[in-house]
Amino acid sequence: MKRIGLTTAILAIVASTFPAWAGDGESAGVRNCTWCHGTSGQGFMVAPRLAGQRAQYIESQLRSFAEHTRDNPFSKQYMWGAAGALRPHETRDLANYFAGLAPKAANDGDRNLAAKGRTIYLDGIPEANIASCYACHGPNAEGIRDIPRLGGMAYSYLKGRLEQWGQGYHSGTASPMPLVARALGPNEIEALASYLSFVK
Ligand code: HEC
Ligand code: HEC
Repeated sequence: MKRIGLTTAILAIVASTFPAWAGDGESAGVRNCTWCHGTSGQGFMVAPRLAGQRAQYIESQLRSFAEHTRDNPFSKQYMWGAAGALRPHETRDLANYFAGLAPKAANDGDRNLAAKGRTIYLDGIPEANIASCYACHGPNAEGIRDIPRLGGMAYSYLKGRLEQWGQGYHSGTASPMPLVARALGPNEIEALASYLSFVK
């Protein structure tokens, strides 16, 4: 009895030292994703946060990777293979699993640009043909259905995505984002990505 107790204690220590591999009850299927997407899907380096993302959006992106419609270099390098190997029920289960995790805000943008970013997010810049983001992504950037949550995602990820549409990369068919993003200049992109990184 004593020895079992000790082994359990050691395992618990090992698990808390290496949370990413030992997992806190994560299944093997989930760990296939979180070794890149970070503990509890909170994002890590170039892999975006999945926690709290809309399930329908996660599913639609996994389809876009599998069909090679989402075609920027990171997508190709990291996600085409990972998504291509999933069966439909696995895609749905993973989407629901990550959608159910509580998202943490990255808080890594430039604080000085956040107010400007918030104004563009809410009102757009009509004279520059820049759409309000609020209309689709929601008052608190929480997303709805297959429109993604943006609030609290990492600055560099948001910036990269907004730049890529202007560079001609795609995400899904019939996405409004290439048109929306084409109107944004580098200053607007930095302000929007900064603001959004702080949204809870
Ligand atoms: C080898 C690293 C790696 C693995 C493994 C991986 N991902 Fe990714 N994933 C990435 C990177 C990098 C991106 C960003 C691609 C881009 O910038 O277009 C990404 C993007 C995504 C996106 C798009 C998110 C968004 O906000 O648009 C989803 C959804 C996703 N991954 C789900 C998964 C799932 C589910 C798994 C497990 C089956 C998984 N990933 C495994 C690295 C990985
Ligand atoms: C007409 C509706 C609409 C408007 C307006 C809109 N979006 Fe989107 N946005 C979408 C949809 C739908 C997607 C998912 C499809 C895709 O990724 O191409 C998306 C995806 C995104 C993503 C990708 C998120 C991720 O996890 O990779 C970012 C970033 C984004 N939008 C930012 C913005 C910003 C900033 C604005 C305002 C300047 C804006 N959007 C305005 C509908 C819209």
